Amino acid sequence: MLRKLKAAFVRHGFIGLAVHAVRRADSFCLPAVQGRRFRGAFGGYHEAMASVRPWFLAGYDNDAVVDNGLEGMSRILPSDARVLIHLERLLPDVKCILDAGGNTGAKYRAFRDQLLDLNNNVSWIIWDTPAAVRAGRKRAVTDGLTALSFVDDVAEAPPADLVLCSGLLQYLDIPFADLIGRLVKKPPHLILNKVATRNGSTVVTLERLRDTAEVPYQIRNCEEFVETLDALGYDIVDEWVLPEFSHVISDAPQLGASTCRGYYGKFRAAATKRKLRAFAAACLLMGSLIASPEFA
Ligand SMILES: C[S@@+](CC[C@H](N)C(=O)[O-])C[C@H]1O[C@@H](n2cnc3c(N)ncnc32)[C@H](O)[C@@H]1O
Repeated sequence: MLRKLKAAFVRHGFIGLAVHAVRRADSFCLPAVQGRRFRGAFGGYHEAMASVRPWFLAGYDNDAVVDNGLEGMSRILPSDARVLIHLERLLPDVKCILDAGGNTGAKYRAFRDQLLDLNNNVSWIIWDTPAAVRAGRKRAVTDGLTALSFVDDVAEAPPADLVLCSGLLQYLDIPFADLIGRLVKKPPHLILNKVATRNGSTVVTLERLRDTAEVPYQIRNCEEFVETLDALGYDIVDEWVLPEFSHVISDAPQLGASTCRGYYGKFRAAATKRKLRAFAAACLLMGSLIASPEFA
């Protein structure tokens, strides 16, 4: 025990050790705070960020936070089922996937044995925080994952056929419409999984990630979000609920439980273009039939 304490002291110094002790106490020792994964109800992302307690790291963009829950996220989970169904169906038409909030490649690693096309035919680009991108690039080289690449500025991502946001939207520090607006091109397909929603007005709470950090967590008004998707030009073709990710804010129970949803959206213009192409092809066929001698 003493040896462990001495090693930790050498590694973290006195202040580091004291901060660690306070975080541990906050997370585990005080029975009153145990289980309080979500606390506070704030007006917006920045207000929540400003309310992070000083002994916690603030937000996701920290090296110490990158691996939080990584092992679980890198496996196929029941919550991935609908994402996999849509990916499998769409993959023949998809050459480039932008995985927004893809961490260091968690879902790429989870899915690539299941979706064999991912190994050879698709480039999988991850946009995440600079901390996750740094770690992800190193690990992709170590693991020889050549189809996997990373950007820390979403505007630098090449045009994608499909954007996947799995577990990102609650942590996003910009409006979703701005994220889509920064892309070089609107993707024909959008798969959004693990989106925290509610019926009342949008609220931002703080989620505690183990004993390390507190991160703003947005629970969106469901109707407004669907309107946003519509205004961006997406038809919601499929929608699902993931009851296992429903949460109550411990010090604001009156707000009720959140509802975690998933969406598959198809860009309307893409569908219209395809219909126009089919119509033009039909017209050409009719034209050549009419012009043929048999028709005369
Ligand atoms: C819960 S993890 C989701 C990981 C994985 N996509 C999954 O579904 O399991 C949330 C991810 O969002 C990223 N993230 C949080 N805020 C972000 C932001 N403002 N911009 C980009 N990525 C962000 C985090 O770094 C983290 O990798």
